[in-house]
Amino acid sequence: MKKIIINGIVVTSGDMFNADIVIDDGKITAIGVDLPRGDMEVVDAKGCYLFPGGIDPHTHLEMPFGGTVSRDDFESGTIAAAYGGTTTIIDFCLTNKGEPLQTAIETWHAKSRGKAVIDYGFHLMIGEMNEQVLSEIPKVIDDEGISSFKVFMAYKNVLQADDETLFRTLVMAKEHGAMVMVHAENGDVIDFLTKKALEAGHTDPIYHALTRPSEIEGEATGRACLLAGLADAQLYVVHVTCAEAVEKIAEARSKGFSVYGETCPQYLVLDQSALEKPDFEGAKYVWSPPLREKKHQDVLWNALKTGQLQTLGSDQCSFDFNGQKDLGKGDFTKIPNGGPFIEDRFSVLFSEGVKKGRITLNEFVDIVSTRSAKLFGMYPQKGTIAVGSDADIVIFDPEKERIISSKTHHMAVDYNAFEGMEITGEPVSVLSRGEFVVKDRQFVGELGKGQYLRRGRHIPHAIPAKLEISH
Ligand code: URP
Ligand code: ZN
Ligand code: ZN
Repeated sequence: MKKIIINGIVVTSGDMFNADIVIDDGKITAIGVDLPRGDMEVVDAKGCYLFPGGIDPHTHLEMPFGGTVSRDDFESGTIAAAYGGTTTIIDFCLTNKGEPLQTAIETWHAKSRGKAVIDYGFHLMIGEMNEQVLSEIPKVIDDEGISSFKVFMAYKNVLQADDETLFRTLVMAKEHGAMVMVHAENGDVIDFLTKKALEAGHTDPIYHALTRPSEIEGEATGRACLLAGLADAQLYVVHVTCAEAVEKIAEARSKGFSVYGETCPQYLVLDQSALEKPDFEGAKYVWSPPLREKKHQDVLWNALKTGQLQTLGSDQCSFDFNGQKDLGKGDFTKIPNGGPFIEDRFSVLFSEGVKKGRITLNEFVDIVSTRSAKLFGMYPQKGTIAVGSDADIVIFDPEKERIISSKTHHMAVDYNAFEGMEITGEPVSVLSRGEFVVKDRQFVGELGKGQYLRRGRHIPHAIPAKLEISH
């Protein structure tokens, strides 16, 4: 049955206007004033904004890490995402050296199939670059629709790739019009600092932050930017936390390099002091890169405002405090890295960003949805409210006040990193391809209804001609 959403204010990255939206067969088929209702199902959105569904470009659901597996899977993770106003996620598919890429992709399909309640795609990790990997890339891009590849510059002896692998991945991506993503921290220096800290008997969670200083995030970011410029490739720096990294991204962009940056809500509102909480509670805030001193928050907000950073990912990678984070009691290096943010990403940005006057409503939509759709080959199917686009729509009450708590959240994990935070604004109802997933704060979706997204390529802006380098 067709639906018509009435009385709402449509907000896109470029516009804001009163209009009805007609939905048929999962797509937006009309937008206009006082459209005839016929026998359509009428949805009243009085007093609410109508936003395009949030796109979270950075999640790790059911991901093996640090001897355990992240707590939220494609079921609880996507349900929580939907409650929070997110209708599309892109999850990181991890690969193993010596194993075909397709094996890893099949593993991720098996994790997600029949579980996801919203649409999802995959980025693919590249841990090594050789003829076997190169031979698989065309199929990965064209058949699987995976057009973004992630290289870890940290997590030595686990996920970390060397600079040759990073550079060859950039060259490969340039050849195929794909995007390279980096976790930018200098893993070798972290490894050295970590060993020194443990030798000195420093085992508390705060040493996770102290052994990963912002300078080494800046160094790795600068190195990745430089290599991207040399390869004339597109680079997306995930989870940017600090002034040093923002500076390197801004510098690369000012040279015309196709470099993009993402930050996460936790870095905008939490700071390093959280890792000093007593009774090992600091472990709840252990993820990488770590939380920074408060002064970095203004730099990140400013970078979002000025467009030096383009997107907000959640970096959802949740571990229970009891039974998972406590693996690191007495040795901070054994605390599984990551936190639960998939549900609150959208609302924290609205409340702290729009309500506090740091960004406009249009910038909010751009950051939380549209730019990710454009960068990761999903626009205009996703990321906007337009005739022909998927009817992924958030009916959002901008005045609703609430307090974030693990008692009321929908993630499977046993704590919330934003516990006690007072925020304004709440997704009341959320539609994925025209069907309610959340209706009046009740989950009404269906497991497995989320579709796997085969993504296209991001077409970069014209950038200066560079050296021709090929494999
Ligand atoms: O600590 C984090 N961020 N865990 C997830 C993996 C990653 O580095 O993104
Ligand atoms: Zn990372
Ligand atoms: Zn991550």
